[in-house]
Amino acid sequence: MTKQDLVGTLFGAAAFQMLNAGNELGLFEMLHREPDRDTEEIGARLGLERRPTEILLLGTSALHLTTVSHGRYRNAALIDEMIADRTWEIITDMIAFEANIVYEPQADFVDSLRHNTNVGLRRFDGDADDLYHRLAHRPDLERLFYRCMRSWSRLSNPILVDKADLTGVRRVLDVGGGDGVNAITLARANPDVEFTVLDLPGAVSLAKQKIADSGLSERISVVSADIFADSYPEGYDCVLFANQLVIWSPEQNMTLLNKAYEALNEGGRVLVFNAMSDASGDGPLYAALDNVYFATLPAANSTLYHWGQYEDWLSRVGFSHILRQPGDTWTPHGVISAVK
Ligand SMILES: C[S@@+](CC[C@H](N)C(=O)[O-])C[C@H]1O[C@@H](n2cnc3c(N)ncnc32)[C@H](O)[C@@H]1O
Repeated sequence: MTKQDLVGTLFGAAAFQMLNAGNELGLFEMLHREPDRDTEEIGARLGLERRPTEILLLGTSALHLTTVSHGRYRNAALIDEMIADRTWEIITDMIAFEANIVYEPQADFVDSLRHNTNVGLRRFDGDADDLYHRLAHRPDLERLFYRCMRSWSRLSNPILVDKADLTGVRRVLDVGGGDGVNAITLARANPDVEFTVLDLPGAVSLAKQKIADSGLSERISVVSADIFADSYPEGYDCVLFANQLVIWSPEQNMTLLNKAYEALNEGGRVLVFNAMSDASGDGPLYAALDNVYFATLPAANSTLYHWGQYEDWLSRVGFSHILRQPGDTWTPHGVISAVK
């Protein structure tokens, strides 16, 4: 490590502000439409005076989000590519999630470590001890949360579609399935399989709409239930936990996996899909930094666990044929499957 390496870390929060401002103020969209503009032209189009325009462009260019040549600016090639193929819509939701849900509670990271709990939750009204129940008091943030969660999942769930082997599976129970984003994607890829999304009432009403919009209401049903307090509906040969077992403690995850085991028929399978950290203890960087959100906000013990921890819980519950399937993209998502 060099002292220069410290700069990105010391000012990491400022780096995010540059990305967020470039996005919110429409800089990247503008430069996509009109590349090679100078400071004055960019300021005029963004409605900014010269000083803030210079501050913004210095930051985005130092971070390689934009480039400058002879006083004229354009987007990094990657940003232009993502705007053109519309993956930028996913990135803008991820930025909105970080800015509106994660940013303030992150300031409680030190206290969250000291007290070994999600101290950042104090920034959301209510007395429930997880984020999802507190969001019910804030319909505006709840909508934003599920919209952004959908984008996080759209970014990574091609890995789920690619790795989840649903051969012979007829009915999948998607536990904590959110607005149905993964059930919809999997249903499109597996035309003979039916899905049930089980989630809290706020998510379920969004899921109904999304499923109807995608024309899949006949194959995807929704159930409003609490994944801990309520028993799981029966008759499923696959239970999916997508971005779910990152929220809870090892003991709670054992409870959920036991419930899945009980609900499955003999030979049924469970799929665990989410971002994983490495057992080596030094990365990947995505998992290491995303853990700040998990440590401060969703629930008391949320963690991006490493692969081996899931495998240990699965075998202790009684599952066999445990199979680890990492994705091969820039996010550390992967699927672990196992059989009852
Ligand atoms: C991180 S989100 C993942 C959503 C979806 N599976 C995905 O991958 O996009 C966690 C989901 O679990 C749901 N959830 C949390 N606690 C729950 C509970 N006690 N009962 C039912 N659903 C719950 C939340 O409402 C949310 O939709």
